[in-house]
Parts: sequence; structure tokens; C-alpha cells
Amino acid sequence: MSAQTNPPARRLAAPDIRARKGVEPVVCLTAYSAPMAAALDPHCELLLVGDSVGMVVHGLPNTVGVTLEMMILHAQAVVRGSSRALVVVDMPFGSYEAGPEIAYAHAARVMKETGAGAIKVESGPTVPETVAYLVRRGIPVMGHVGLRPQAVLVDGAFKAKGKGEAERTAILADARATADAGAFCIVVEGVAESLGREITEAVEVPTIGIGASAACDGQILVVDDMLGVFDWTPKFVRRYADLKGEVGRAAAEYAADVKARRFPAPNETYYPPKAD
Ligand code: KIV
Repeated sequence: MSAQTNPPARRLAAPDIRARKGVEPVVCLTAYSAPMAAALDPHCELLLVGDSVGMVVHGLPNTVGVTLEMMILHAQAVVRGSSRALVVVDMPFGSYEAGPEIAYAHAARVMKETGAGAIKVESGPTVPETVAYLVRRGIPVMGHVGLRPQAVLVDGAFKAKGKGEAERTAILADARATADAGAFCIVVEGVAESLGREITEAVEVPTIGIGASAACDGQILVVDDMLGVFDWTPKFVRRYADLKGEVGRAAAEYAADVKARRFPAPNETYYPPKAD
């Protein structure tokens, strides 16, 4: 009898996420490094290499300064560290807004150089045309409506969206246009429960909420927020760990051991081989 070997699990692709609408909630987190991607991969269907990397890893005040090169480097690490989740790469500010052709050139570079399965763009008046252009040319696209972090300099701050009727209508129209253009799922950020629900009912692709209520088809959080690495956390974040506290505690213990010459101990020290 020949030994049975299980075929390696196939990495999820954009159509697998698209097919989760109305089936089960889609679990998503951001990731920026290979070891973190490896830890998250068994638990997530989608890992987003978010341009939030600029703030949580590189210490930038917002995502406007993030470059294509930064995104590619972090995406390569996340693809190497994961084997099951769909890896989606955020297109950074300035890389896609000018029009479909420049967006295609940058997105194709991301796909070729990283091995990721899709890209994400934040919505805006010209963006549905770009989404359609990319999808027709073989690039799966995740949309992003509501609070758009890349618009922070126009908005003045990271503020919840859709408070007035005109803004609600515009966000709903954005979501519909993004889905109609062929996006396989849409991040909905920073809107009230009623609008999160309305968008989810209005579009045929999964909505992935971040501060947009449990009515969405899936959820995403910035992993550093969820793990308690990053100090500033908005109302919608639930902290599942206090890694910053734990790192501080470990560093203090290490410092005390070094000062007291308790580290390194003999079993952590190399000695010359004993002569025969
Ligand atoms: O950059 C990011 O991490 C994101 C999430 C907030 C969805 O866009």
C-alpha cells in the first residue's frame, strides 16, 4: 500500500473571498513582516499589507509618505511568511489616482515583484474606472470606501464618515460603483452601523468592516492595534494583547540582568574545547 500524502493546501485567491458573501465572515488582518504573517496565516483568509505600515512600523504621521518601494518590500516578506491567506497589497498615495494606465503600470509591478494575489485602492471619483481597467487586465482589486486614510490632508484628521445625508449617499454610491467596476471585496472604514449595513446589503461582494459594525461580511484590524503595539487606538479597536507592555517588561528584565552580570550565564557562553 502506498503512503498517502496530502496535497499542499492551495493559497486562497480573490474569487474564494468573493464567494464568502453570505456564507461566513471573512477574517482579515494587516501584516508587514514574514514572522508575523506566519503567525497570522493559519487564522486569516486575507492578509492586507496595508499602507498603515508607514504609521505603525516606520513612524510616519499618516500614510501619505508611503512609497511603492516600501509596499513592495513589506509585501515580499508577507508572501514569504504565509502560505494560505490571500495577500493583498495597498497601492500607496500617488501611485494610482492619476489614471488607469499609470495605476496599471504600478499595480503590475507590485504583482510581479511580490507574488501577492491582489491590490487595494481607496475610492474617489476617478477610481471605479481604474478598478475596471485593472480587473479587465488581470489584476484583482479590493476597494476601500468611507474613511479614506490617504485623504487625511484634505479631511484634516481621521474622522468617522457619513454623518450627513449627502456624505452617506456619496459613500453608498462609491461602494456601488466600486463593486460594479469589478472589485472582489470592499473595505468599509469608519461609518455608522446603519451605513455599514446598507452598503453590505447594496453590493454583491463582501464588505470588510473596520469601524463599520458587525453588519459587514468580514472584519479587518491593523494588527499592531489589535496586539497593543501601537499607542493610539480608535474606539473600534479591540485589544487582544498588550505586546508593548510585554516588550517593555522583557527589556527591563534583560537590562537588570546585564547590569547585575546575570546575563549571559555559563550555559549561554562559548568556551574553548577541552584539551584531551
Ligand atoms: O492600511 C491599512 O491598514 C488599511 C486598513 C485600515 C484597512 O487600509
